[in-house]
Amino acid sequence: MTLSESELAARPTESSRLGGTVRVRDVSKVFGQRGDTTVALNRISLDVPSGAFVALVGASGCGKSTLLNLIAGLEKPTLGDVTLNGRCALIFQEAALFPWMTVAQNVSLALKLRGVPRRERAGIVAELLETVHLQDFAGHQPHELSGGMRQRVAIARAFAQEAEVLLMDEPFGALDAMTRDLLHDELERLWLDRGFTCVFVTHNVREAVRLADRVEVLTSRPGTIAETFEVPFARPRRIEDPEVAALAGVITTRLRQEVRSHATE
Ligand SMILES: Nc1ncnc2c1ncn2[C@@H]1O[C@H](COP(=O)(O)OP(=O)(O)OP(=O)(O)O)[C@@H](O)[C@H]1O
Ligand SMILES: [Mg+2]
Repeated sequence: MTLSESELAARPTESSRLGGTVRVRDVSKVFGQRGDTTVALNRISLDVPSGAFVALVGASGCGKSTLLNLIAGLEKPTLGDVTLNGRCALIFQEAALFPWMTVAQNVSLALKLRGVPRRERAGIVAELLETVHLQDFAGHQPHELSGGMRQRVAIARAFAQEAEVLLMDEPFGALDAMTRDLLHDELERLWLDRGFTCVFVTHNVREAVRLADRVEVLTSRPGTIAETFEVPFARPRRIEDPEVAALAGVITTRLRQEVRSHATE
């Protein structure tokens, strides 16, 4: 297939793509001191190529947040190597905003830190807030927002950082289904447009299949990869697509096996 010139122009060039890479090799993480330790991760390996969208699913406490923190460099592995190439932004399970700043200031700060000239910032902030449907809350402070709205500010701020690797830790867990669906569409559109790499943690297997190219099922603690599922379906996808539901069913069964095998130990 050959592409017309206008189609070629519309495709992001290699240099304008934002996809960083992640390489986790044989990583273990142990918390605590002698006698009172928790092995959160056990020899986990994971490769996330440039522009990929990888979802991680696993039981509560299996080490998903720990893995994201290690990739972001907030924690150091006890054993093994983590390599991150590219600028990264981490969206936490609970939105971490500066409480004394307004919504717009929280997003604008990321632009300032990236060196975006002051005169350009307001326009970009307005655009990003519209993307997350918060254009009417630019002047509010975080404590005046719901949990889901705060999470959307955190997402706008990550977009403002132009992250090459976006690490998302259950970013939509607190949202109502309709807002979540809208943000799935938005995230997918931005990901297709900008080409960043995404590692997305969720408890919601359907959400994982809706969004990702690849779903990694983690074992219960200590976490390692139990099984990898490729998601071959065309985009854009919808969470209610029958093929999404069918694959989510298969993955859920695998996840249950994993949880059950550890529950009987
Ligand atoms: N800073 C820490 N100090 C001590 N133990 C920790 C620390 N962070 C995590 N852990 C332990 O490591 C294990 C993995 O925790 P982690 O937060 O990575 O799980 P998770 O898979 O993200 O769970 P959830 O789905 O509930 O968010 C847990 O047993 C937790 O208690
Ligand atoms: Mg977690």
